Amino acid sequence: MRPAKDFFRPLAVGAPDPVHEVPARPSRAIHFFDPSNEKMASKIPDMVGPGSGAPDVLLGNLEDAVKADNKEAARAGLVRIAQATDFGPTQLWTRINALDSPWVLDDLTTLVTEIGDKLDVIMVPKVQGAEDIHYVDRLLAQLEAKAGLERPILVHAILETARGVANIEEICGASPRMQGLSLGPADLAADRRMKTTRVGGGHPGYLVRQDPDPQQPDKQRQTYQQDLWHYTIARMVDACAMHGVYPYYGPFGDIADETACEDQFRNAFLLGCVGTWSLHPKQIAIANRVFSPSVEDIRHARRVVAAMGDGTGAVMLDGKMEDDASLKQCLVMVELAEQLAA
Ligand code: GLV
Ligand code: MG
Repeated sequence: MRPAKDFFRPLAVGAPDPVHEVPARPSRAIHFFDPSNEKMASKIPDMVGPGSGAPDVLLGNLEDAVKADNKEAARAGLVRIAQATDFGPTQLWTRINALDSPWVLDDLTTLVTEIGDKLDVIMVPKVQGAEDIHYVDRLLAQLEAKAGLERPILVHAILETARGVANIEEICGASPRMQGLSLGPADLAADRRMKTTRVGGGHPGYLVRQDPDPQQPDKQRQTYQQDLWHYTIARMVDACAMHGVYPYYGPFGDIADETACEDQFRNAFLLGCVGTWSLHPKQIAIANRVFSPSVEDIRHARRVVAAMGDGTGAVMLDGKMEDDASLKQCLVMVELAEQLAA
């Protein structure tokens, strides 16, 4: 088993790889902005960290939600913003257009050439299999070499087709550039022909009803809403953990419903995700809170680490058994807290 400390850092496979030497940086909130929207773009310099309200990542979105007529303006806007802004500790990501779109070649060529030294991660939508990552990987290698870039740009795939879900392990392992995976619930729902009309979140019709009570036949039976995304997120977390890349929730479109948003984000955090997308400034604070371990969890994890001494055997703490395995869970928590505090 991999030491817990390595979970937050992509693992090198085989020979040491410069991509995997990049130290892990927090990415709890990936805040999307449309660089063709001047009002939105003008706020970007003020959103750069450090600061507890800042997102860990600012992402210039070029794909869906940007009108076809604005694709070029969005690309040019992102170049302008990146060149004019000192991002400090905040990462700069972009979401390029889909690989079968007329815009993607210009997206990659322009962005790597003009702002490749500032771009940390390129998010690739609608990834279907390893071949999509290989294509982007090769193109990036050529463009980076031409631009004389020394730091490789990492790649993040959005899981938003049924084929992508079926090929999830090979996608995660397709390149040492792979940084992570996000759930794309809107496109994935459409591709699967799910009967929903939402961007992420639950559905009031997706229920399990309590069995009838023979003693009380007329009693109203309880119903419990189930999580539509549980299977996909769990599958994504396993594939990411296996390959040492990071899993993320994705978009939650009901901006007004902060409670449901927080619930979805927390489920994803508990299942192993390290962050999520933010589509509105309100969601940054929710993501920063949810994807940071609580003070109580950190305190408890540190007590277990201290009590476990050399890390083997079993101890009783507050009436509960702790052993080598619970210690490993606590180390995940402690190391995440240290990474966020660094
Ligand atoms: C995101 O891109 C989604 O389709 O949900
Ligand atoms: Mg999508």
